[in-house]
Amino acid sequence: MKKALVETYGCAQNETDSEKLRGMLHEMGYEFVNSAKDADLVLFNTCAVREGAELRVYGNIGALKHEKIRRPSMLIGVCGCMAQQEHVAAEIRRKYPHVDMVFGTHALPRFPEILEKAVAGRVFAAENEDGAITEDLPVRRDPPPLAKVPIMYGCNNFCTYCVVPYVRGRERSRQPSNVLKDLTQLATDGYKEVTLLGQNVNSYGNDLGGDVTFPQLLREAVKIDGIDRIRFVTSHPKDISDELIDILATEDKLCKALHLPVQAGSDRILKLMNRSYTAEKYLELIGKVRSKIPNIAITSDIIVGFPGETNEDFEQTLKLVEKAEFDMAFTFIYSKRRGTPAEKMDDCLTPEEKHRNFDKLIELQNKISLKKNKAYEGGTYKVLVEGESKTNPETLTGRTGTGKIVNFKGPADLICQTVDVTVTEAKTWSLAGTL
Ligand code: 5AD
Ligand code: SF4
Repeated sequence: MKKALVETYGCAQNETDSEKLRGMLHEMGYEFVNSAKDADLVLFNTCAVREGAELRVYGNIGALKHEKIRRPSMLIGVCGCMAQQEHVAAEIRRKYPHVDMVFGTHALPRFPEILEKAVAGRVFAAENEDGAITEDLPVRRDPPPLAKVPIMYGCNNFCTYCVVPYVRGRERSRQPSNVLKDLTQLATDGYKEVTLLGQNVNSYGNDLGGDVTFPQLLREAVKIDGIDRIRFVTSHPKDISDELIDILATEDKLCKALHLPVQAGSDRILKLMNRSYTAEKYLELIGKVRSKIPNIAITSDIIVGFPGETNEDFEQTLKLVEKAEFDMAFTFIYSKRRGTPAEKMDDCLTPEEKHRNFDKLIELQNKISLKKNKAYEGGTYKVLVEGESKTNPETLTGRTGTGKIVNFKGPADLICQTVDVTVTEAKTWSLAGTL
């Protein structure tokens, strides 16, 4: 059997693309290995959201040069969001002659054909068309209990810092019947928790002629027996409807967790980012969500050092974070992306100032995360057991409905089951408990 290594960078959407690449490879007779040294094919499924992810990919491609010289029959491919960008394909063509194939996000369904051609010579495939959605590609997933299901692809929002609309194309929703078919199959296969994926799930269905909305899709999804928990990411604050908040409040299977990226706390910066809300509107929105779902966990994404951001603007972000009391926040230093409107905007702060602000933000958020987690101490929560802890095989790990990681001692046969765990100790990133 031929051996393949598929390395994934970036977000959950990209992980589901890798599951499809593995599905196609499996049908072509490949098995999977964890090291490039053992692989006949190495595929990098890449992310373009920040420069750091791109640099890591270039480094890892470079590191394979000698392996390729030693074993010329080995194939190396670069696909995904980086590969969708013309300047990246040109760079790989010039500087990395040992890469055999480069194909963008839209070419994914043509992977078997691209792979076949790559045996004869280098292939560059990055069509610019947002292809129609290809359903029924084979999928190789991680074992139960968790599964991810894309409900839509692309993004129409054009936040000025973000490369996603350029590398993933316009919003395209899957037909609800196809999404529900996937969920039914997952239930049959023993999966218990499904995360529905889209860059902006709240605009699901807008391109389907107005026949179906995201809350309507959720209403159907919760009826599927066997799937006990449903999550979704990501929500854009401008598109959260009262109907969504109501269904989140009333349907038990919908996890009480909302990832709602705010990005910044200064109205001036939010405007420059093209986010379509003010800090006050955002705080009002999460106030409304919490009034209807009191113990919901709200998480966020925040960018520090967007072009034009001053220290006063950054103080507004700190103020917002203090008021919002997020359970957790993913924090990023702004990274300039080729072809985005923000690429042309000027910086106010030095890299040192940005790093200092970034550290301040993390310190504040960590304090809040710990305080939020402390509120769990002494309580007993339903935890879906995901597996053994990576560091200690005697310890099991799982999550509460609100998405908190809980570690506790227990037998491995509890994996995939939902158990009651009493939280004994809160940490910044996780909870410890007893069965
Ligand atoms: N620089 C830094 N962070 C970014 N994100 C998106 N684009 C950039 C960029 N150019 C962040 C946003 C988004 C998350 C997925 O990545 O916070 O919500
Ligand atoms: Fe990027 Fe904004 Fe679309 Fe999210 S909503 S993918 S940040 S353009």
